[in-house]
Amino acid sequence: MENIKDLFPCHIDSPEAMLSLGARIGALLKKGDILALIGDLGAGKTHLTQGVAKHFSYTGAVTSPTFNLIHEYSDTPLIHTDFYRLDKPEELLQIGWEDYLEREAILIIEWADRFPELIPPGSHWIKIQHQDTGRSLQYAHH
Ligand SMILES: Nc1ncnc2c1ncn2[C@@H]1O[C@H](COP(=O)(O)OP(=O)(O)O)[C@@H](O)[C@H]1O
Ligand SMILES: [Mg+2]
Repeated sequence: MENIKDLFPCHIDSPEAMLSLGARIGALLKKGDILALIGDLGAGKTHLTQGVAKHFSYTGAVTSPTFNLIHEYSDTPLIHTDFYRLDKPEELLQIGWEDYLEREAILIIEWADRFPELIPPGSHWIKIQHQDTGRSLQYAHH
C-alpha cells in the first residue's frame, strides 16, 4: 500500500489537479489521521481539503472555517479547521480541541504552523508553495 509521504514532492498545475491529489490523499487516510497544512493565502490548502472531502463523497461546500473555527462535514469522518484567524491556542482549547483530537475522525488543519504546539506528533505535515505556474507540495517533517 502506498504511503502519503510517497506522493511528495510533487508539482500540481491546476485547481482541478489539487482536488485529485486531495482525493488520492483521502484514500490513504485512516480515521484518527491528521493533515497539518502549511502555505500562504491562496496556496491551495482549502482545495486540497475539498479533494479529501470528495474522496469521502461529501458533496457540500468546503470552505475555510473562520468564525466558528471548526467545520465538521456530515456523514464523513472529516473535521476541518484553520488557524489563520485563531489569535491564541486557548480559544481552541476552550471549544474542546483535546476532544476533537480524541475523535475517530480525520482532522485537517490549515495554517497549522501558526500553532504547531496544538498539533500532535505523528501528524502529516504538507507544505504548499506558489510557483510561477501551479504549486509545489512537499511532505514536511516538523
Ligand atoms: N495547484 C494549483 N494551481 C493553480 N491554482 C490553484 C492550485 N490550487 C489552488 N489554486 C487556486 O488558488 C486559489 C486559492 O485556493 P485555496 O484552496 O482557497 O487556497 P488557501 O486555502 O490555501 O488560501 C483558488 O483560486 C484556486 O483555484
Ligand atoms: Mg483556505
